[in-house]
Amino acid sequence: MTYVIFCENCDTNGGGKSVLEKNVSPFPPQKGSHNGDHVLMMNAPAHSTSHFLSLVDVILSRRSIRRYQHKEIPRDALDKILEAGRQAPSAMNRQPWHFIVVTNHEIKKELSKWLFTKHIKDSPVTIVGCAKTGFLDRKWSTIGTSIALQNMVITAWALGIGSCWIGGFKEDKVKQLLKIPDNWKIVALVTFGYPDETPHVKRKKPIEKVVSFNKF
Ligand SMILES: Cc1cc2nc3c(=O)[nH]c(=O)nc-3n(C[C@H](O)[C@H](O)[C@H](O)COP(=O)(O)O)c2cc1C
Repeated sequence: MTYVIFCENCDTNGGGKSVLEKNVSPFPPQKGSHNGDHVLMMNAPAHSTSHFLSLVDVILSRRSIRRYQHKEIPRDALDKILEAGRQAPSAMNRQPWHFIVVTNHEIKKELSKWLFTKHIKDSPVTIVGCAKTGFLDRKWSTIGTSIALQNMVITAWALGIGSCWIGGFKEDKVKQLLKIPDNWKIVALVTFGYPDETPHVKRKKPIEKVVSFNKF
């Protein structure tokens, strides 16, 4: 099976232009068949000069983005981001999550009032990741919801959209503001928006400090 990658940035006639053909795609095909092949539409990230970033490049180049352009996230891009969350794995496939997409400026302003949440007000979209706390879910729901949020973060970056995880919020206040029921907890908030900064290279611990083989 061949995957055809289109670069919409190179598209001059509205029809898209194939820039790469691969036998194995790191992305699931999203569009119907095209001459018997699956067709994958993919925007080259706006910050990239290359036509195509592999999934690994996307993961390795992601950095937290806290400054955003005054530019809306198009609905089809937002839908892809949310779909990436919906497709995440979860224990017993219970999908113990709910995502609140916050676009309302007044609500974002309220959510921005803590020290580590200031950038929420400038983000076009902030997603609040909620996890179920009932008997069957409480052990694993934070993990599943986190995986779903990170799927969204990676998908967004592949589309040229930056993001930043936020843990520094007051859960009771946010629950009240967003009318989140008692049997749900908030795992994290994640801001999304087109980057208006080039973040510093982040120092990460050396691989030998964080990985060992066969014993700790
Ligand atoms: C669970 C979690 C909570 C975080 N909370 C905040 C936060 O409240 N505010 C913030 O500005 N960044 C927050 N961050 C972003 C981290 O500061 C950032 O991921 C870290 O410095 C590494 O940088 P990088 O994402 O660019 O690799 C959080 C990240 C994670 C994963």
